[in-house]
Amino acid sequence: MPRSLRSGGGCRLALIALACGPLLAGCGEGANMLDPHGVGARDIAGLFWVIFWMAAGVFVVVEGLLIFAIFRFRNRGEARLPTQVQGNRPLEITWTILPLVVLFGVLIATFNTMKAVASPVPNALQVEVIGHQWWWEFQYPDQKVVTAGELHLPLNQPVTLHIKSADVLHNFWVPELDRKVQALPGHDNIIPIMATQSGTYHGFCAEFCGLEHAMMRFEVVVQPGDQFTTWLQGQAQPPVQPTTAAQQAGAKAFAGSGCATCHQIGSAKPPGFPSNGNIIIGPNLSHVGSRGVLAGDIMANTPQDMAHWLQAPDTMKPGNLMTTFIHNGQLSQQQVQDLTAYLESLK
Ligand code: CUA
Repeated sequence: MPRSLRSGGGCRLALIALACGPLLAGCGEGANMLDPHGVGARDIAGLFWVIFWMAAGVFVVVEGLLIFAIFRFRNRGEARLPTQVQGNRPLEITWTILPLVVLFGVLIATFNTMKAVASPVPNALQVEVIGHQWWWEFQYPDQKVVTAGELHLPLNQPVTLHIKSADVLHNFWVPELDRKVQALPGHDNIIPIMATQSGTYHGFCAEFCGLEHAMMRFEVVVQPGDQFTTWLQGQAQPPVQPTTAAQQAGAKAFAGSGCATCHQIGSAKPPGFPSNGNIIIGPNLSHVGSRGVLAGDIMANTPQDMAHWLQAPDTMKPGNLMTTFIHNGQLSQQQVQDLTAYLESLK
């Protein structure tokens, strides 16, 4: 094979290897599990590097010995066979014991990390996390707050997340903060979490759960304690009343167009904090205007995107439940404008 082609193949392999790096780490900015900003993620990344360097050491030793043997014991044109080591007891024992020791080290390190990331912290803030097809609901039961799509956490404070599902299997994962946790219907999975740096992080559903699995994302906003408390108190307030004509028309359209069948605003049906999350169909919209993202973090919460979402939900997120109720283009332009004005006012 011509040399230029051989080196081209090598380049391609190197490029593929480089491209696979981010896959291993969890793609995207703000979602790199090897860039931890939470106690659990830090422990997990630490374990990853321990195993990585152990594996790298094994690789170097084994490949080094292999290359050494290839050159040292190559056929030099002699007629006789080299010295045979088959059945050499000390060698057999050595290469049986050594991997055992290495793997036992990995096992101990893994057990330690599993214990560390699963240990509950007393007096932690309690948050219920409920997976729905295809969005995430977040409830703060002690503060009577319910929201969706955007999980707020206080900086450097312990939080216990109770992960569950309202329908099928989901999987809650914020790569930079902690481990993956399965969301099961009718069962609480607990995850103690503590973020150690303010900022916005990306969360994902990490288990295939239907058509829009890939669009079942969320944002995590980590704030210093005082800012978090202000946010929480704001979310616990009743929704603001519509003031402008457009907002009032939007409130009317909300009640008259079927929106209220699935979505709650205020205490018409109070955020009920059902233990299994079953009675909630769509996200609670009491403070939807305060959120940074919409529809499972597939778009920013801007009036333009909100209007587009109301106008043609199925083009933005095919298969979403809202489409079974509000078909593309069913709401008039005026209704969409009024609804957008009303919903965006709900800060
Ligand atoms: Cu929910 Cu994938």
